[in-house]
Amino acid sequence: MPETFSVGLLGHGTVGSAFATLLEQRADSIVPITGLRPCVSGVLTRSRGDFEEILAASDLIVELIGGVDPARDYVLRAMRAGRHVVSANKLLLSQHGEELWACAREHGVQLRFEAAVAGVVPVIRVLQESLAAAHVERIHGIVNGTTNYILTEMARGGLSYAEALARAQQLGYAEADPTDDVTGRDAAAKMAILARLAFDTPVHLDQVRYEGIEHLTADDIAYAQQLGLGLKLIGTAERVDGGLSIRVHPAFLYGGHPLASVHGPFNAVTVESDAITEITMSGPGAGGPQTASAVLGDVISAMIPPATTPETSQRLEIVNDVESAFYLHMEVADRPGVLAQVAELLGLQGASIKSVVQQGLGDEARLVMVLHPLRESRFYAALRLIGRLDFMRSAPRAIRVIEEEFT
Ligand SMILES: NC(=O)c1ccc[n+]([C@@H]2O[C@H](COP(=O)([O-])OP(=O)(O)OC[C@H]3O[C@@H](n4cnc5c(N)ncnc54)[C@H](OP(=O)(O)O)[C@@H]3O)[C@@H](O)[C@H]2O)c1
Repeated sequence: MPETFSVGLLGHGTVGSAFATLLEQRADSIVPITGLRPCVSGVLTRSRGDFEEILAASDLIVELIGGVDPARDYVLRAMRAGRHVVSANKLLLSQHGEELWACAREHGVQLRFEAAVAGVVPVIRVLQESLAAAHVERIHGIVNGTTNYILTEMARGGLSYAEALARAQQLGYAEADPTDDVTGRDAAAKMAILARLAFDTPVHLDQVRYEGIEHLTADDIAYAQQLGLGLKLIGTAERVDGGLSIRVHPAFLYGGHPLASVHGPFNAVTVESDAITEITMSGPGAGGPQTASAVLGDVISAMIPPATTPETSQRLEIVNDVESAFYLHMEVADRPGVLAQVAELLGLQGASIKSVVQQGLGDEARLVMVLHPLRESRFYAALRLIGRLDFMRSAPRAIRVIEEEFT
């Protein structure tokens, strides 16, 4: 009989229960890989289990509680007691990662977290191992399946944001309280973790600028389709002027971009570096069984060779004012000189117009344009002035456009 490898399970919700089932199903097939037979030695939820007892009976702890407290305390206590830890907790790692990775190094244990970013898409492993020596220039990603599903439904079915969110909730793609997903905070946490690994510099969730999808309208999507654009919630981490910009916001993509064809609840991450040109990984971003599969992969890895997340060696400055192209949507009075005045205010800030669609609506007109890239601070300075023009019928709406097309 092979020796047993005891796994203490903290959390038995969507992912935790799927993990317990998967571990039992796959235990026999893990024996030839590791020489050990994994089994769940104890389960902690709010209503059952005792952490100290589970810790004492475990070789490894799987943390699937989520949030910062009490997950942080349990993870630290497990590592201080010499246990490897596997976690899917992006909120914890994006806020306390340095403390946790340092604790893992100090106590010679592994802290693995593949499932914390992009579900089952193995992007953490690729950054830490396969691309360990690549000088990454940029990471672009769709790292939140809930928002990608909502935007896909808005584009395909012409649904409003509220209708698409309700459908996502019915199908289990969005939680009852979708705040972290739709505000971009969940994606920001994931981008903080990716940036930390790719750029070898400490990154905290607070340093990621993020905007969500709550204010987008089906109108924006329909107009942009006429300009060949599709809308995604994009996370970006990139080198800018010797520093690092990390941001999450809705952005239009042209059809040739590798992320443009990622639809529904799928996630995808594109990594760019001179050494590798560009690679894109995609797959299911969430779901109990899928996430559990990534967690189990980490458990198996922890059963074999040691791995650590090394201390960072860089202290890159976080850059907040970057260049972006913009889509600009305006409802205006239909009278002569409107376009010229808007163009003048944009021109004063160095913005130039790439394409325009104008549509008359009785006394009013709708003016939709795409601008060439300019510093965001200059664009928003122009936008503030445009918003005050007397012919504006409502506040202008702006969404970034990612210009590259990959062929
Ligand atoms: N769901 C996904 O598709 C997905 C995808 C990727 C990553 N993740 C991550 O995986 C983790 C778990 O997510 P989930 O969706 O499985 O969460 P969930 O369904 O809400 O389950 C959370 C579990 O943790 C337990 N728990 C909560 N507070 C606790 C406390 N103070 N002490 C002990 N146990 C406590 C809950 O206990 P009760 O049963 O008593 O309520 C429940 O069993 C999170 O970090 C999440 O971000 C989830």
